[in-house]
Amino acid sequence: MDKYNISTKDQYDSIYKDSINDPEGFWSEIALRNFSWKSKWKNVLEWDFNHAKVEWFKGAKLNITENCLDRHLESNSDKTAIIFEPNNPNESSEKITYRSLFERVCQMSNVLKDKGVKKGDRVCIYLPMIPELAITVLACARIGAIHSVVFAGFSASALSTRINDCESKIVITSDGSYRGNKTIDLKGIVDDALLDAEIVDTVLVVNRINSKINLIEGRDVLLRPLLENAEKFCKAEVMDAEDPLFILYTSGSTGKPKGMVHSCGGYMVYTSYTFKNIFQYKKNNIYWCTADIGWITGHSYILYGPLANCATTVMFEGVPSYPDFGRFWDIVEKHKVNQFYTAPTAIRALAKQGTSYIAGKDISSLKVLGTVGEPINEEAWHWYDKNIGKGKCPIVDTWWQTETGGVLISSIPGIIEAKPTFATLPFIGVQPVLMDNNSNEISESDVVGRLCIKFPWPSIARTIWGDHKRYVDTYFSTFDNMYFTGDGAYKDSHGNFRITGRVDDVIIVSGHNLGTAPIEDVINEHNNVAESAIVGFPHEIKGNALYGFVTLKNSSNISENIKNEINKLISDKIGPIAKLDKIQFTEALPKTRSGKIMRRILRKIAANDFKNLGDISTLLNPEAVQAIIENHIK
Ligand code: PRX
Repeated sequence: MDKYNISTKDQYDSIYKDSINDPEGFWSEIALRNFSWKSKWKNVLEWDFNHAKVEWFKGAKLNITENCLDRHLESNSDKTAIIFEPNNPNESSEKITYRSLFERVCQMSNVLKDKGVKKGDRVCIYLPMIPELAITVLACARIGAIHSVVFAGFSASALSTRINDCESKIVITSDGSYRGNKTIDLKGIVDDALLDAEIVDTVLVVNRINSKINLIEGRDVLLRPLLENAEKFCKAEVMDAEDPLFILYTSGSTGKPKGMVHSCGGYMVYTSYTFKNIFQYKKNNIYWCTADIGWITGHSYILYGPLANCATTVMFEGVPSYPDFGRFWDIVEKHKVNQFYTAPTAIRALAKQGTSYIAGKDISSLKVLGTVGEPINEEAWHWYDKNIGKGKCPIVDTWWQTETGGVLISSIPGIIEAKPTFATLPFIGVQPVLMDNNSNEISESDVVGRLCIKFPWPSIARTIWGDHKRYVDTYFSTFDNMYFTGDGAYKDSHGNFRITGRVDDVIIVSGHNLGTAPIEDVINEHNNVAESAIVGFPHEIKGNALYGFVTLKNSSNISENIKNEINKLISDKIGPIAKLDKIQFTEALPKTRSGKIMRRILRKIAANDFKNLGDISTLLNPEAVQAIIENHIK
């Protein structure tokens, strides 16, 4: 990536300028120089934001796995591609070379083909962070099947919704997963999910926790024996740059989850170029992103971005607190990690434990620290900088989304200076703008506005699976000819962006996007619930936590039981990550005269901020507010 490797601020400025003045020339040069294409595109870019149409490199032919695997075999076949670090530190870690990864991906590809999976079919992957997860993802890409990874912390109901939405006929799972000192019965969850997803005719099961597996005849098959007998070569399917590579679901503020569709060519180009530059990845570095591959961060920056760069990427199965809060630093020391990428919620949880878990561990290999998923507060930023980076590792606060495929705003180590709590400057080719409430672009600095992007970058999602209209409505109809991110941001006089948080009804809890309406829908299913409203409130570790205001049909039998039942329902229907921290029963919810719940007021109450409730006299039932304040949960 020579000429376009960013290594000084002047170079960033000039490359950025080139990328804006001539985006097509710029990205076609990046694409041509750094990847192997079977044939070239006709047009570099076709786009029309008003119809949510974006096409990069259309007509070009490629297979992303040839770029992530095959082309490295000639000179780097023995290089470690993936270091698998298991949940239990007493179990050996596994180093998978590029040659071995290639062969295992081919074997998995052959198994999938054998099971009838063809180009364009959707494959649901519900696996813990074990090598088979990475291998299955890549195998889908190799044969042109569209992978839909569902985070293995989601419930049966969330899983069946996702399977049905994309009509996946096959599910790859494991008997169970390890999470710290717990095991989770994933196969049982799949069995439950499939009661509501009759479309599935095949389930491939990896044995991970050695539990007794209940195989349903005609449907379930153990995967490992099939893999062992499969050929170690599989020809890569020829894909168009615009063919879908994967679907990944993300919560919306309303309705069912949105299956964001990413395409092969642009996604590969952008995740690879961002990975190399934002983490300043150098040959033979060891890179570790602690995310789960069930999220976009894992797709782009554990798998595709690093592997396209022939990097060594760590895949960790466990949690930061097991066997103790020093686990991350044990792993950094053990594998001599150079780039470490995690989420603010993890940093805060570790900071709370003090520094004794770091003491005595050699983490001097670290060169770059990254953060992603939610705004990082100043205290956590400084703790990370001082105790982990020892004041010497630049921190990249990377702002992006499932929809964007790759990082859009970030500092670059040693090149764009970090500023605590700021994501700082746009990455090459990215044109962010702030919009005011009257749909005007804000030209001044030192202001807050709604964050939009006014020009397409190669890895923008192409649609919502099966619902292009929803894609247009959600992202492209708020502002004319703009992609609207759903986030608010502040811009300083140097052009640095600080993300202030969601401006819609999405709440980010421990870095996970949660729409309020889908949770309220679940709560309202409880037979004694009349109505509910969820808001976020600031939480020391999670960033935000959920506060539910609930009115009951029969309030004479209010009890802790109902609270537990509500959280159980949420856990069953969505997953434990969406459970409420606080539940307040109330006689009524504050409403406007047209009957809309005034969440703005509830948000203030949940945050213990009773002074700035604004004018409540126009409410239908101002008296409800006083009652809620009196009984609110501190
Ligand atoms: O609100 C922003 C927040 O996470 C949202 C995207 O969530 P998701 O699609 O799950 O992807 C997360 C990982 C890329 C954004 O709309 N967000 C993400 N990164 C940051 C952030 N907020 C502030 N600073 C960040 N660095």
